[in-house]
Amino acid sequence: MPPVALSDSNTQLIQLDEHPGNRQQGNRQPAPQNGSRSNPGSSSTCSSALADSPWLFDAEPGYGPGASMDDPAPYHAPRQPGLPAEYRNASAEELDQRIRRAKAALGERLVILGHFYQRDEIVQYADFIGDSFQLAKAALTRPRAETIVFCGVHFMAETAAMLARPDQTVILPNLAAGCSMADMADRDAVTDCWEQLTALLGEEADAAGRQPVLPVTYMNSSAALKAFCGEHGGVVCTSSNARTVLEWAFARGQRVLFFPDQHLGRNTARAMGIPLSQMAVWDPALPMGGLSVQALRDARVLLWHGYCSVHMRFTVEQIAAARHRYPGVQVIVHPECTMPVVDAADASGSTDFIVNAVAAAPPGSCFAIGTEINLVRRLAAQYPQHTIFCLDSIVCPCSTMYRIHPSYLAWVLEALERGEVLNRITVPEATAAPARLALEAMLKLAPKARQGAA
Ligand code: 13P
Ligand code: SF4
Repeated sequence: MPPVALSDSNTQLIQLDEHPGNRQQGNRQPAPQNGSRSNPGSSSTCSSALADSPWLFDAEPGYGPGASMDDPAPYHAPRQPGLPAEYRNASAEELDQRIRRAKAALGERLVILGHFYQRDEIVQYADFIGDSFQLAKAALTRPRAETIVFCGVHFMAETAAMLARPDQTVILPNLAAGCSMADMADRDAVTDCWEQLTALLGEEADAAGRQPVLPVTYMNSSAALKAFCGEHGGVVCTSSNARTVLEWAFARGQRVLFFPDQHLGRNTARAMGIPLSQMAVWDPALPMGGLSVQALRDARVLLWHGYCSVHMRFTVEQIAAARHRYPGVQVIVHPECTMPVVDAADASGSTDFIVNAVAAAPPGSCFAIGTEINLVRRLAAQYPQHTIFCLDSIVCPCSTMYRIHPSYLAWVLEALERGEVLNRITVPEATAAPARLALEAMLKLAPKARQGAA
């Protein structure tokens, strides 16, 4: 299969067969956890449960080990039905053989997508690896694929299902792979907020045709929230195009209601020159979001009280320690980090921005990276000519990405081979149609990606 050229993005979507780092290392085993070049400061893990298998957590009322282990799973989070014992008990070698055999048998009818944050034991089977936006579009480049197995989290699979052709099936190997940040805003709470805002601010456009509030949702949100945006003239953004999207939004709205990640919203708005005095955090647990009428009227950006536990772990002190230990180090963080962390870094940008920054650096560069550990380790393994390490010395992967394990992948692939579809992700058309409006508003905006701020 020749490398796939992606249509309208200048970002690098890696087709794994063609990636030199992937060819060279084979990606069979995760990088060592301690004392490695990839993470010079790495000493311990955030949870001893990281050594456990994800199915041990699927029935528990939480997300399991990892950075968001303390985030409660919402009541509606799907629970994985028991993974059959033959998959739970299979050795890594047996699972590897079974996955490769099933994948080969399914041939071009199958495409496996892997998010940058997936563990290497999964990434090795992916036909494409990229960010959530790239992967949603990647499936479209394989027209013969009847089934898209999405090794990522629920909102990504949902987006792929909405953008895929009606005859394509999207599968999430483990239904318990949610996103704790996406779960911090639901349709009821956002509708409640919206009703309070429109009661106060009205619905009349101003002389420039801008509505009082325009909703913008981060890709990391449910299809229901994307639909909400589509129904109210709003739009979706990703971390790679948030600024372009906000500029579009301000041409149509006097204010923006940005959910669920307050940090991406704040960091992006501030990079656009909007002062903090014109931003306010809407706390959905409080009447009127905990804000005064004056604060709501004055705000240009209303930020939902959501956050990513993985990126909240990065601190200004870690950056200072990295600079002290590695003079000349370049610190790059994801814009889901807090504003002081983004300010203290040399650059901030999406996962794709980080990948491209490392790829473009001259040999011998040194990077301290503030994002999920699996991506940082993979970059360190792929670019041994650089020193690359995670800002946080405590190894703490995204606990929901962690839920995708080779046992689940083998399970869904072998079922597929028998003609059985497990863990299919579907979005009812009543939700998908307005959600597509908001997604398509984003897709029309160019240039798409590689936004980052130095
Ligand atoms: P991307 O949009 O870069 O894929 O990131 C998704 C994510 O979950 C970041 O935490
Ligand atoms: Fe969600 Fe954070 Fe994990 Fe990304 S890293 S999937 S935002 S919990």
